[in-house]
Amino acid sequence: MPLRYIAGYSLLLLTRFWEKVFDQMWRVASLPERFVSIIWTTREIERYSRTDWNSWPSVRTYANADDWNSALELTLVERYFKNKGEILNLACGAGREAVLLARRGLRVTACDWSPRMIAEAQRRAREANVPVRFEVTDLLYALPYPEKAFDYLFLTNIAYSYLFPRYRRLRFLRQAYSMLKPGGVFLISFTCVEESSRQERLQWLFMQLRRSALFNRDYEPGDGFSGSFVHIFQAEELRREFEEAQFIITDWPWKQGFAVLAKP
Ligand SMILES: C[S@@+](CC[C@H](N)C(=O)[O-])C[C@H]1O[C@@H](n2cnc3c(N)ncnc32)[C@H](O)[C@@H]1O
Repeated sequence: MPLRYIAGYSLLLLTRFWEKVFDQMWRVASLPERFVSIIWTTREIERYSRTDWNSWPSVRTYANADDWNSALELTLVERYFKNKGEILNLACGAGREAVLLARRGLRVTACDWSPRMIAEAQRRAREANVPVRFEVTDLLYALPYPEKAFDYLFLTNIAYSYLFPRYRRLRFLRQAYSMLKPGGVFLISFTCVEESSRQERLQWLFMQLRRSALFNRDYEPGDGFSGSFVHIFQAEELRREFEEAQFIITDWPWKQGFAVLAKP
């Protein structure tokens, strides 16, 4: 075997070795942040998330997004938002989807809890010359929209996973159900579980800690931190939430983190 071939092969092996080492180091380095969701209360998590989403770095990240997130997102929009009705774009960020939806002829209302995101979204809608009604609104509390106001609801980019604990998600889903017209469609996206025994061990530990008043008593398996606070769903858990809020699941591309819900 030529020496050159052996040299090249050794470099490949060395790289793989370093990748493994760095992967392990990253796992250990990111361990401390995973404990925050058992230490902070729901209010403290909310306070951090609100501030973080309203920070300039977050706004700048989303201000640069100007296309559909994925081919699937576009496919679902084309398939389910055919009639040009009233749509509510929830957690709209810096206006990416609101502008894209308005360009398709939908009458768009868009909301987000971050005033800076909304200001940027307004600027972009003006620049794109599309009419969108924007509002600063928090999905964790009472929403300011009347019953049966919308044909469609749109909550994408895993934003359903930003809502927790469960009782708050259910409160949100019930409001969403009431805001939809009968026959209306809700396109919703979330983060789904990646099995890992390490995660399960940590979750077991957190469930023990949660018994003490020193820790977050609202903690639920699946709550965690990965760049931002997210709830990672199991399929059965999510199905139960949708059904408790009376939605019918009409499409369920689970692995891609989407569901299409309907109000009969
Ligand atoms: C991942 S970004 C997505 C933004 C936009 N949907 C997009 O795809 O470009 C998530 C957005 O959810 C918003 N958000 C998170 N929690 C929220 C809440 N409780 N109420 C309203 N908006 C929320 C954040 O401010 C942020 O703009």
